[in-house]
Amino acid sequence: MVVLSGPAAAAPPPHVLQDEDAAAAPAYPTVVLQARGNMQKFDNCVLLTRVGGFYELYFEQADEYGPLLNLKVAQKKTNAGAVSMAGFPFFQLDRFLKILVQDLNRHVAIAEEFPNDASEKVKSGGLLHDRKVARIVTPGTLIDENFMDPYANNYVMAIHLPGVELSNDAGAGAAPGSQKAHHHELDDVHPDGDESSAQIGLAWLDLSTGYFYTQPTTLSALPSVLSRVAPREIVLDEVLESHRNHEILSILTDEKHLLTYSPPGELLQLSHWEPMLEAEIPPATAGSFTDNEVKAGGLLLHYVKDRLRGLSMKLQPPVRHESMQVMNIDKNSMRSLEIKQTIRDNVFRGSLLHAVRRTVTKGGARLLNEWLSSPSTSLEVINFRQELVARFIQNPDLRDAIIVLLRRSHDCQRLVQRFALNRGDPDDLLRLASTIRASNDIVALLSSSLPSPSKTKAKAKAKAKANGEAPASTIPSEEDCLSTMINRISLKQPLKLAQRIQDAIDEEGLVHQHELEDSQAGEMIALAQSVVKTEGTEDDGLLLPKGATAKAAAVAGTSTTKRKSASIRDYYGEDNEVWIMKPGASPDLTRLHSELAHHFQEKVQLTETLRARLNAASLTLKWTPGLGHICHVKGKDARRSPEETNDAAAATTEAAAAEAMAFKTLSSSRTTRAFHHPEWTILGERLDKVRFQIRAEEQRVFAALREQVVRNLVKLRRNASVLDELDIATSFARLAVEQGLTRPTLNNTQQTVIVGGRHPTVEGGLAEQGRTFQRNDCLVGAPGHGRLWLITGPNMAGKSTFLRQNALTTILAQIGCYVPADYAELGIVDAIFSRVGSADNLYHDQSTFMVEMLETAAILRQATQRSFVIMDEIGRGTTPEDGAAVAFASLHHLVHVNKCRGLFATHFHAVADLVSEQRMRLEDGGAAGAVEMYCTDVEEDEHGGFVYVHKLRKGTNRKSHALKVARLAGLPESAIRIAQQVLESSEGVESRGSGQQALESAGIV
Ligand SMILES: Nc1ncnc2c1ncn2[C@@H]1O[C@H](COP(=O)(O)OP(=O)(O)OP(=O)(O)O)[C@@H](O)[C@H]1O
Ligand SMILES: [Mg+2]
Repeated sequence: MVVLSGPAAAAPPPHVLQDEDAAAAPAYPTVVLQARGNMQKFDNCVLLTRVGGFYELYFEQADEYGPLLNLKVAQKKTNAGAVSMAGFPFFQLDRFLKILVQDLNRHVAIAEEFPNDASEKVKSGGLLHDRKVARIVTPGTLIDENFMDPYANNYVMAIHLPGVELSNDAGAGAAPGSQKAHHHELDDVHPDGDESSAQIGLAWLDLSTGYFYTQPTTLSALPSVLSRVAPREIVLDEVLESHRNHEILSILTDEKHLLTYSPPGELLQLSHWEPMLEAEIPPATAGSFTDNEVKAGGLLLHYVKDRLRGLSMKLQPPVRHESMQVMNIDKNSMRSLEIKQTIRDNVFRGSLLHAVRRTVTKGGARLLNEWLSSPSTSLEVINFRQELVARFIQNPDLRDAIIVLLRRSHDCQRLVQRFALNRGDPDDLLRLASTIRASNDIVALLSSSLPSPSKTKAKAKAKAKANGEAPASTIPSEEDCLSTMINRISLKQPLKLAQRIQDAIDEEGLVHQHELEDSQAGEMIALAQSVVKTEGTEDDGLLLPKGATAKAAAVAGTSTTKRKSASIRDYYGEDNEVWIMKPGASPDLTRLHSELAHHFQEKVQLTETLRARLNAASLTLKWTPGLGHICHVKGKDARRSPEETNDAAAATTEAAAAEAMAFKTLSSSRTTRAFHHPEWTILGERLDKVRFQIRAEEQRVFAALREQVVRNLVKLRRNASVLDELDIATSFARLAVEQGLTRPTLNNTQQTVIVGGRHPTVEGGLAEQGRTFQRNDCLVGAPGHGRLWLITGPNMAGKSTFLRQNALTTILAQIGCYVPADYAELGIVDAIFSRVGSADNLYHDQSTFMVEMLETAAILRQATQRSFVIMDEIGRGTTPEDGAAVAFASLHHLVHVNKCRGLFATHFHAVADLVSEQRMRLEDGGAAGAVEMYCTDVEEDEHGGFVYVHKLRKGTNRKSHALKVARLAGLPESAIRIAQQVLESSEGVESRGSGQQALESAGIV
């Protein structure tokens, strides 16, 4: 038995000292030496070494991580001195991996036991096992750990900087850009800055789904890409480790990205990647990769391959991000629009994603996550998505039925990838089979709600004719969208696979097996508990897995109250062994099972024969680990001596007398006795052999099924992505019905027409308080309207809300979702930019105003005619004069240079005056006449009460009513009185900024 060395801090597993320690004279025991070797080899990893039923940490790692993991650190005495060690039972691996990898961002090398063959055994000084690192788990290279976030992709990204290889010998001092490093923030947005605008290559993949992407970009655009992709870990060429001043490092550390350095490896050509891909890269795409992307991909694949230590992987062929038409949402907009988390406390609740997510599958949720960070700019794609949603709104029965089926499907992408990585178990096979069947049912459902094909074609033709055009292919008709989805699902081979799985796997057997495993884990936990109880503290008890108490109690219950055969050892010893495959799974299995049945029959007969021959009615034939195949008798049969038994049996024949000689009592107590009998020994061994063959054959069948899954990889993944899209489409339909959303019309104009728009998250918040949301129109760029709206108005009257709601509506429309408005007609936007709120970054030498200007600069440099910009209170971080000047300059630039659509909120009415002076208003006409003024207001009554009018009206509002908000916020009344006096007198003297004058006339100084 293994001694618990973790929570109990007891002695190390005894075999460490005993059977494997023989040859190590003054040195450390060999297991410890092996661990030492692995720690040196994988020096940036936390090493977990499997020893029997435990994973152990040694030496300084035990000292460092033991306390962090809440494990007791024991001092193991060895000939070479004391060794610190800490450990935990093997089944808690996931728990501790989560802490080490997910929470502490460590790389964990897991050394597993591999049985040594005879010669290795001698070499290693008699060790039964070699302990090799079988995998290195890092935050970016999770496969199927159950602590993975099921709703987000887990990307690891490699970045290739050209020229870095060459500057290898430049040394740390002469790092490129070291001179400019202090001002790197400016370089970020400087198009002429040689570093920022230089092309770099990105490649990223999700090991859990096999998604693989590449993209060329520049250093200045990198932060936005990173906020879109949100990689969990970033890999850089190890050369950069000595270039501490390189600009990229400040970008990456700025955002607290987790960095890993790795050698570039040898996979530096596309053709080298093929063994790791499920299919060839189409030749047409292969040519389009830039050299930087290929280098980044090579670095990435080399890194991942090394982490997997020889585990094969099958990724999807890389997709170039360039070839995908997506809207750019830069880093600041992502944050300030609260797309995936709120600004204030970085939580999911309150984000746009939270507000719109109604998906029922994990794959669907992950895809929605991706869509929201990169909405489409393709009219065709958006229209298609909308068509699907429309179908599911029109047909609620179909929608609900599909949702039921989707719920029945499992996370196919991750499931399939598990098999591609040579993992996966029989349960995964069953899940896969049920997902395939659910897909089949979905296809059947969709097909049944298709109009007959002839009707469809005829309708389309008629429609095209009526419009005097050729049959449209870009805008699929409603009928097309369902059949397009159906056609993307291929089921013929997968259904065969599902059938094979169903025919092969014995679900009941699996259930049995899990019960056994549970009770095994329970026994282990019970053991741990009892050790903790006697030697540990209460905290150690808390460390045991959830449900441990229940499991342990259940086990304790079975061992005392139930029949003894319920214990595992007996279970395996008895005839009721669990099989996970049905006998029909292969011809060999059929034959072996019938052989087994035959042997069981023989066993029954032999039992009867022996009972009669030996005159022992209580005789049973058994197997125990210590004694092997034994005959077992009890009661009066046991009390009789063997000789008596023999006499009784051998009363007549010589043969029986000879037989009697063979008996030898092996163990006996007052009530039972066990002895060997050659006939049972022979039969028992035959039984064992058949059992062994069945196990082997089950393994073979399982491997064959796994291979079949891998063969179907491409189809299964493709099917899964169709289900993901159906999940989103049905969820959008539900959302639209639930919240009264409208289908927007998208086009390629530069107009945004939103009538009766609402804010997707604020509206819900108000509704919870019983308040209603005032709808507002946004008509930027629409005929008769300005392309840029300048919005003024009191504090708290809804300016910021209006700005954001229109940006969010645009994003929702372009992911194919319906929008919170009465009517919407939207020209597709290539990028959303927003300058909202204030934040300083003092650590990076950026004051509040500096941050504001950096962000503004980025927008003014990047926004195109097709972009949509919202700017909220530019220039508020400095004096009103300077602020207004900067604000007006920004607005001027947006109108005259960027020529984009925009919403611009400000409290500086000087900006409005300047716009009028410069004749930039719509009324002034001409190209410059693109600005329109809108405002919000406050309505006061004669009793001094007031309400905010959230309805936008034309015009400029010069009153901020700031003191109302101040009073609402609870500013002391005396302070408010002084503020009032200042305001009144400054209005009286028409003072333009002389605070001294104002204060004087207010009688304050
Ligand atoms: N259209 C609306 N209908 C109802 N309530 C609204 C509306 N717009 C905003 N509100 C409410 O008013 C609050 C303040 O809105 P918002 O922050 O947009 O004001 P603001 O004009 O930007 O103020 P400030 O000038 O102080 O930044 C919101 O939190 C919301 O509760
Ligand atoms: Mg505001």
